[in-house]
Amino acid sequence: MKNKTVNLTIDGINVEVQDNLTILEAARKANIHIPTLCFLKGINEVGDCRMCIVQVEGRKGFVTSCIQKVEEGMVVKTHTPEIVEARKIVLDLILSNHERDCLTCIRSGNCELQELAIKYNVQQVKYEGEKIKHKIDNKSPSIERNMNKCILCRRCVGACKNIQEIGAIDCINRGFESCVSTVGDNSLADVDCTFCGQCIQACPTGALHEKDDTEKVWQKINDKEIYTIVQTAPAVRVALGEEFGMKIGTNVTGKMITALKRIGFDKVFDTNTGADFTIMEEADEFVQRFTNRRNFTNDYIL
Ligand code: SF4
Ligand code: SF4
Ligand code: FES
Repeated sequence: MKNKTVNLTIDGINVEVQDNLTILEAARKANIHIPTLCFLKGINEVGDCRMCIVQVEGRKGFVTSCIQKVEEGMVVKTHTPEIVEARKIVLDLILSNHERDCLTCIRSGNCELQELAIKYNVQQVKYEGEKIKHKIDNKSPSIERNMNKCILCRRCVGACKNIQEIGAIDCINRGFESCVSTVGDNSLADVDCTFCGQCIQACPTGALHEKDDTEKVWQKINDKEIYTIVQTAPAVRVALGEEFGMKIGTNVTGKMITALKRIGFDKVFDTNTGADFTIMEEADEFVQRFTNRRNFTNDYIL
């Protein structure tokens, strides 16, 4: 069916958009910011966290803007005192069951929950109560899961199912016991996880993060009995440039090699041949996936 154009008002601004958009998307088009936590366009549109609530004239209560479609003549308000108060309560409740060790958390300064708590001036948690203590899963070689910092937004679940089409993780249990885990609550190391890291990219908090072996590397470099060799992945050559504020796509191979030598590595190797093999293997998996079209997601629904 063809989309129609609708007119609505958001915070007093007239907005004209297609009727297949949500209020959140319409607001973004009009440069009006509505906070979100669980929403990830095309990956996780489940309306779980309630951070994006707004008020719509003629409707009772709050409306979840990330899933509510726009309608002709809607009058939307995004930041009334009632909305701000309700968002504070949402944050307060999330924080009440959250391991709040921000000072030493790997995501401190880059955590969406922390950013919202600061923005909404949530300085004290009013709803202190029982907390669930999850065991930390650090068995895998590259990913650590600390569900004590999970806010149950399910963005990781969406990323694993919808981007990777693996479905290694999902929500398990009910109510207060709910958490994101694997089949049989096993370690990521013992299920069909490919350690691609898409779930980490999607996670707004420190619940999922890559393992950091920096200290082990320093120990090896500083051990004069050990001859240290570093082999870099191809993508790093441009990613590093971006990290240092250079134009996207800038190749910093020379600078990177010099820096690695100055850090103390004895030899620096590139990975061109290995990378070519990886690309061939990935292409083969891609073709197989789409020729067999096996639905990995459904195989692992918990
Ligand atoms: S790292 Fe594992 S759990 Fe995370 S998205 Fe990839 S396959 Fe899924
Ligand atoms: S692990 Fe992260 S992305 Fe997944 S549900 Fe918890 S907070 Fe959200
Ligand atoms: S962002 Fe809309 S409910 Fe979470």
